[in-house]
Amino acid sequence: MSQNNQTAGNPSKPRVAVLFGGRSSEHAVSCVTAAGVLGAINKDKYDVIPIGIAKSGQWVLASPDTSQWSLAGSSLPEVAPSAETVTLAEIGGEHQLIVAAPNEVPQELGTVDVVFPLLHGPFGEDGTIQGLLELSDTRYVGAGVLASAVGMDKHFMKVVFEAAGLHVGPYIAVTDRQWRKDPEAVRKQVDRLGFPVFVKPARAGSSMGISKVDSLEQLDAAIEAARRHDLKLVIEAGIMGREIECAVLEGRGTDAPRTSMPGEISVAGGTHEFYDFEAKYVEDNAVALSCPADIPEEAIARVRELAAAAFDAIGAEGLSRVDFFYTPDGEIIINEINTMPGFTPKSMYPQMWAASGLSYPDLIDELIYLALNRKTGLR
Ligand SMILES: Nc1ncnc2c1ncn2[C@@H]1O[C@H](COP(=O)(O)OP(=O)(O)O)[C@@H](O)[C@H]1O
Ligand SMILES: [Mg+2]
Repeated sequence: MSQNNQTAGNPSKPRVAVLFGGRSSEHAVSCVTAAGVLGAINKDKYDVIPIGIAKSGQWVLASPDTSQWSLAGSSLPEVAPSAETVTLAEIGGEHQLIVAAPNEVPQELGTVDVVFPLLHGPFGEDGTIQGLLELSDTRYVGAGVLASAVGMDKHFMKVVFEAAGLHVGPYIAVTDRQWRKDPEAVRKQVDRLGFPVFVKPARAGSSMGISKVDSLEQLDAAIEAARRHDLKLVIEAGIMGREIECAVLEGRGTDAPRTSMPGEISVAGGTHEFYDFEAKYVEDNAVALSCPADIPEEAIARVRELAAAAFDAIGAEGLSRVDFFYTPDGEIIINEINTMPGFTPKSMYPQMWAASGLSYPDLIDELIYLALNRKTGLR
């Protein structure tokens, strides 16, 4: 991949605000991603400002010391609240970062050319932060408001995929009102799906709140567990299939989205029945990522085609990881799209690009290039 030729923003050294942490249950995962990006971003080319979002929602200036954000030891990394709050404001036509503390005159930290929101889950990957950045006319990496919101919601995502002709597995969506008003009707619908089912919060991630349910007796507990993350749920028929993922990167100019070689996630049997939170982040060696996935060539081509179609279906920009089930009879069923996928150097998205010839630092560079060259305004 060729090096960037910046065309927008500060011509000397674009200022990149790396935004991480956030209010969702994936706070810690976002910190780990930030450690990866802060460690790999080209500092000769970009002026980098790390900004953490505490769980309360407060923006603070964060330490550039990546060891503070890594997954080392037993405690998960977390952005601590601070007496000083950072905000982004437009002053004199420039996007300025302002630091304010009680009883002190606010200070300007300088202008920002592009924001890299490394936020997963609600209040980050769901269009809310994107909306805030749109309001202040600030460029940012990744999908816009609608695509982020659709990609976050496992129900509307499926509605859009089905409309685009993608193969979605059997599911029902359950709203808070439906569950509180007539739980028996929900149980009947689930029974018709057949067991096992996967009960999921509609808007969460990193497998948080997801349970595999083998019988009706276990259903209510799984529903209550999911409702702790989101009162809206999606309940899906369990699909027997291998988990195949594909990384999508927006094309430059009018080019079509680029797709990586697909990879496969295999969860070591025994302790993990599926790709759950512990398997994803906590335990070493619980999962094997292999790229390219060892599936027939036609299936590889089809997965790439479907991944690009899913990216376009929701109107994604920048990056997305599209996840599928590949069944024993060769069907390719879409599971989900992630508009801000796990992005540590070891995560599947960068790994699939690395296996396809695009290194982690070059990938970061390309995403910033795409963001700097995208017009602000309606998107
Ligand atoms: N319908 C399904 N059939 C079989 N396994 C599933 C199904 N839905 C989810 N899983 C398992 O649960 C994991 C997490 O589900 P997913 O929908 O990808 O949620 P998240 O957004 O938290 O990653 C999947 O990677 C897969 O292992
Ligand atoms: Mg997933």
